[in-house]
Amino acid sequence: MKSIKDTNFKGRKALVRVDFNVPMDENKKITDDTRIRESLPTIEKLLNDGAAVILMAHFGRPKKGGFEPELTLQPVAEYLAQVLGRPVQFTQSLLGEGKAEEMAAELKAGEVMLLENIRFYPGETKGDEALAKQLAQLGDCYVNDAFGAAHREHSSTATIAKFFPNDKYFGLLMENEVVNLEKLMHNAPRPFTAIIGGSKVSSKIGILENLIDKVDNMIIIGGMRYTFTKALGGKIGNSICEDDKMDLALELMKKMEAHGVKYYLPVDSVIGDKFGNDANTQIVPSGEVPDGWESMDCGPESCKAIRDIIMASKTILWNGPAGVFELSTFAKGTNHIAQSVADACKQGCFAAVGGGDSVAAVKQMGLADQMSYVSTGGGAMLEYLEGKVLPGIKAIQD
Ligand code: 3PG
Repeated sequence: MKSIKDTNFKGRKALVRVDFNVPMDENKKITDDTRIRESLPTIEKLLNDGAAVILMAHFGRPKKGGFEPELTLQPVAEYLAQVLGRPVQFTQSLLGEGKAEEMAAELKAGEVMLLENIRFYPGETKGDEALAKQLAQLGDCYVNDAFGAAHREHSSTATIAKFFPNDKYFGLLMENEVVNLEKLMHNAPRPFTAIIGGSKVSSKIGILENLIDKVDNMIIIGGMRYTFTKALGGKIGNSICEDDKMDLALELMKKMEAHGVKYYLPVDSVIGDKFGNDANTQIVPSGEVPDGWESMDCGPESCKAIRDIIMASKTILWNGPAGVFELSTFAKGTNHIAQSVADACKQGCFAAVGGGDSVAAVKQMGLADQMSYVSTGGGAMLEYLEGKVLPGIKAIQD
């Protein structure tokens, strides 16, 4: 990996792609700044070397082609200035109108500027070469630190790299993500347990299949487990299920058996009579959910069994919650897993957590610092673990 760590950037003008696609509330207040904070080591390394730093980032998914006030990166520029402890110049005008180019040309060593939301240019998501070339002219080297967007083949994440054949680098965040994910894929201490949840089997097929020859245990939780339970003949009431994926679920279980992977499906469920914190609840065996009731979390017996598997593991990958954890009535299973993984880490287990909901759960519980590694990528981490080559990574390696 060509990392920025091995190069001195004194006097350079570094174009850095970051992922500042952070959640904001209706008052434009950033509600989770992890991606910004995790980008600081790269920005600071470049500034400390004596480089000028030009940041490119996207925010949301603009549709109109041009400026959209609700998707401006201005609040991020202001926040970044605070956490960086130095001014951040912000290009309110778009490229081609002189301003961004002039600001970049005048930027001095130790100074930082952030370009407005790069997705305001319709060419960005098409990987447009003309846009990439225009961006490339703003700097003299390219650093990709946007792991969260590395699965996108866009102008600023991939195409641009070809304009810097000898001057393209991985940022420190990107390097850290790749090192940790590679550890999971190739050097994981055994036993290795994957805990895969979420609502749909269809969105997790790739990761389940790719992990079969790597893990010892597979714990299948969340709404997706009911497709497995129903495929095995269980009664799931109104629980979420993809009927057209039941054959696939059976096939996956057969494959796991053939590879000697022990898979675990929760044996009991917390069910509710409606989707809300004030629902009436019951605990029932997972395959005996009455009609009119929906399963929303793992039951206590399952929580205990899952904890035992977690505590006996040396490596854990957790992607996807156990239930509807955003409703406190149904958060126990997810919280229990978060606490168990944190406890396993205390006894030396390597645990990686990824995916928006499971990351939100460990943060909500104040346990993020106790995990070995929390990924900043949602879709990007999933695609990496599916075994796909991410365009943002490939562009630097090519
Ligand atoms: C993310 O939030 O997962 C990344 O920033 C990518 O965003 P996207 O899914 O809109 O491409």
